[in-house]
Amino acid sequence: MRTIPLGSSGEEIPVIGQGTWRMGQDPSKRSQEIEALRQGIAHGATLIDTAEMYASGGAERVVAEAIRDLRERVFIVTKVWPDNASYEGVLRAARESLKRLEIDRIDLYLLHWPSSQHPLSATMRAMRKLVEDGLVRHVGVSNFGERLLAEAQEELGDVPLACNQVVYHLRNRVIEKGVKPYCDRERITVMAYSPLGDGDFPRPGTRERALLDEIGAKYGKTAYQVALNWLVAQGNVVVIPKAANPKHAVENATAADFQLTPEEVAAIAQAFPLPPGSFDDDMD
Ligand SMILES: NC(=O)c1ccc[n+]([C@@H]2O[C@H](COP(=O)([O-])OP(=O)(O)OC[C@H]3O[C@@H](n4cnc5c(N)ncnc54)[C@H](OP(=O)(O)O)[C@@H]3O)[C@@H](O)[C@H]2O)c1
Repeated sequence: MRTIPLGSSGEEIPVIGQGTWRMGQDPSKRSQEIEALRQGIAHGATLIDTAEMYASGGAERVVAEAIRDLRERVFIVTKVWPDNASYEGVLRAARESLKRLEIDRIDLYLLHWPSSQHPLSATMRAMRKLVEDGLVRHVGVSNFGERLLAEAQEELGDVPLACNQVVYHLRNRVIEKGVKPYCDRERITVMAYSPLGDGDFPRPGTRERALLDEIGAKYGKTAYQVALNWLVAQGNVVVIPKAANPKHAVENATAADFQLTPEEVAAIAQAFPLPPGSFDDDMD
């Protein structure tokens, strides 16, 4: 698995991880979800993204079961929901996530969305405290634009803001208009969520899909693998596709083991142009 440094920390993380949104909701799918995560880990996708909000803690419990004998190999990312983003709320939420995940330390803890209810200063003070207490190793945010990223770093002081998790896929490249260049400059890792469009992937029969299929055929890869590979090729990007199907999980975990040519990267960019508008600093 290819790796990149996490923010300015010097620690390497895999460019392909695994998402868990909508896992832990349906008991009949649980064993398949666990199998998918384990297959992904076995193929190098050792970064797992979850959140206290997913299935009200259910996704974190699925992760706990999937990694119980693999803790040393995995890098766990989880998130605090903005309603809990007060100083005490963050400390409590982190402890509860640790319990559900059955681990002693969260590798990367994110604020899930900017909060309209609690000041960022209080949230970031709590994040600092968690790092000082050894319960969290790295701190980040999610769905943050440039202004709020600067504010978060200011509030964190000498604790580096390691990551901004934002929507990024071929049909939504809006972060390229400001957020991504800012993160690149400030050494904040971009974690691309919904990297396969959350189900809205180019359909067979479209011109866009034909291009991805054609490039994939050259490498013996699927259109989905080409799409993930293109995102990673932008640099400073980690993708976290979600797959409850073990076959998909393996496919995703092996999506970075080939290199698109500069011409292919450019052709894909041309087929999926930048959308109008800009990234909004939306509150929860
Ligand atoms: N921070 C935030 O606000 C935020 C928001 C959204 C998502 N996220 C995170 O990002 C993760 C990924 O985003 P997402 O879940 O929205 O969507 P996604 O990963 O873009 O797409 C997931 C969908 O793609 C399918 N899929 C996965 N791999 C495939 C493959 N190789 N071939 C064909 N289909 C494939 C999955 O099917 P199967 O499940 O059947 O395999 C599922 O239906 C989430 O799970 C979550 O951890 C964060």
